[in-house]
Amino acid sequence: MLNVHLIVGARPNFMKAAPILSEMRKRPKQFSPTLIHTGQHYDAAMSTQFFDELGLPQPDYNLGVGSGTHAEQTARIMLGYEPIATGMPPDWTIVVGDVNSTIACALVAVKLGIRVAHVEAGLRSRDRTMPEEINRILTDSIADLLLTTEPTAEENLRNEGIDSRRIRFVGNVMIDSLLANLRSAERSDILSRCGLESREFVAVTLHRPSNVDSPETLSRIIAAMREISRRVPVIFPVHPRTRETLRGIETGDITLTEPLGYLDFLRLFSQSKLVLTDSGGLQEETTALGIPCLTLRENTERPVTVEMGTNKVIGTNTERIVTEALRIIESGLEPNNRKRPPLWDGRAAVRICDEIIAASS
Ligand code: UD1
Repeated sequence: MLNVHLIVGARPNFMKAAPILSEMRKRPKQFSPTLIHTGQHYDAAMSTQFFDELGLPQPDYNLGVGSGTHAEQTARIMLGYEPIATGMPPDWTIVVGDVNSTIACALVAVKLGIRVAHVEAGLRSRDRTMPEEINRILTDSIADLLLTTEPTAEENLRNEGIDSRRIRFVGNVMIDSLLANLRSAERSDILSRCGLESREFVAVTLHRPSNVDSPETLSRIIAAMREISRRVPVIFPVHPRTRETLRGIETGDITLTEPLGYLDFLRLFSQSKLVLTDSGGLQEETTALGIPCLTLRENTERPVTVEMGTNKVIGTNTERIVTEALRIIESGLEPNNRKRPPLWDGRAAVRICDEIIAASS
């Protein structure tokens, strides 16, 4: 029986952890999991609602760290997690994704001699101004088991000198959640609440510091969205980080909403004509469902979504965004044999659990 600590902190962690916890609970002879929420995200709309909708139980511990600078937040998570990891050291600490909670808990665990498994290892944007890129590089360099979502991840890790015996290609566990919840999301009334017709609107999300912390950059993107909204409705659930900067910008006919829960948002983007985003996860979710996606960044750490999926990385120039969006709105995606990437099949959590068992013997 393996004692494991499963760490979550921010919104995109919850849909990755839920299938893993659920699979572990089906194997009580193999796993005894403890769920630890760092409290990096704490608003009901960013946290509790996801726990409820994804069937995650109350966390066994909530470190309640809240917001702060990177150093403050990372340090508080480390200080909060260390006594728990020392008090009852698990066989494994499992971290997911690339947020501050990921590196903070991995670092605590590894220094206590606890084995660390990193779910979603090996993704690289090669843009070190992204806080997530630093979190990814550091977490991968100290983790014992690197569980990857796409083939390029192993290449990236090997190029950094990581022993291939530590790497396992398990597929994308966030897609486990997506596929498991598609049916329940059909019950969401988000389209009628927002007065939208299926396939007749564009859904937008923006929260990357490089896009939303500066009013100039955000204005450039909003100008494109306003132009697009002259042709089709544009709906934009606003992340708390984006709210402040948005306050001083004229948003015209764009429909702004509060952050949406998992099921409402799944229903929304799965019924959209096109998604505009700077999120990492949404590039993958749109690829899995065949929804066109334009990524408003200069790079992506998830190249399989471009090579096999529906994603195109187009930057943040106003004219480029409008041209690319209108092309898709008018004529759809250019054909490129789009398919769902390998092992994005709803069974990643099973493989993750199997690999942890195999690595423990
Ligand atoms: C974090 C992750 C990012 C992930 C994103 C998803 C890091 C470095 N960044 O970014 O990778 O894509 O989560 O949402 O870990 N806030 C609230 N309520 C909350 C949480 C945050 O109002 O529940 C506000 C606070 O003003 C806070 C700001 O959002 O200062 C940013 O939160 P933070 O956790 O620092 O980073 P995110 O931008 O959410």
